[in-house]
Amino acid sequence: MKFFIDTANVDEIKAAAAMGVLDGVTTNPSLAARETKPYAELLKEICGVVEGDVSAEVIATDYDGMMKDAVELAKIADNIVVKIPTILEGLKAIKSLTSDGIKTNATLIFSPSQALLVAKAGATYASPFIGRLDDISNHGMELIDNIATIYNNYAYATQILVASVRHPLHLVEAAMIGADVITMPFDVISKLIKHPLTDIGLEKFLADYRKANKG
Ligand code: E4P
Repeated sequence: MKFFIDTANVDEIKAAAAMGVLDGVTTNPSLAARETKPYAELLKEICGVVEGDVSAEVIATDYDGMMKDAVELAKIADNIVVKIPTILEGLKAIKSLTSDGIKTNATLIFSPSQALLVAKAGATYASPFIGRLDDISNHGMELIDNIATIYNNYAYATQILVASVRHPLHLVEAAMIGADVITMPFDVISKLIKHPLTDIGLEKFLADYRKANKG
């Protein structure tokens, strides 16, 4: 399973990369708006920090505009993946960009039918937003399960990128289903290693060592 970080903050990306388990980055206009640098400049810097795929989102919502944005974004670095909203114009753009050899990430997926369409169009990644479904009392993880079944049934190459992740249990459940990638905020990544029994156990081992080796 690949681990991406969901942020445009370079310090968070560096800290996650230092853990040695980071495979890529996802950004979006809301995340970029929290930073001070212009989006293109920020993306260039991020692409220099991580070797893996870095998703960068188009702003246009019509086919021509999306294609123009996509070409500009793809020029920034070889590891840029163009994020395209899952709307009709976006579907057309995904199809064209795939033919042009540009990697795509279909974003804002909330239904299995949307996921099936973007796979048919050749998207590199499909990003279902599970936390936002949980927020409105729908089972976000059921969507991942359904998409995994559909993609397995037809051996689609599109990778399931679990997005809008809120807590470590989302990672565990997505991994049990066999999702290809998960993108997590830094806060969630930081929590993954922590367990109170590990801390208590370690404290006891060290105390016992000190007792046995005093003087
Ligand atoms: C994914 O690519 C998105 O940037 C992200 O996961 C959205 O998460 P949110 O619902 O917490 O904004």
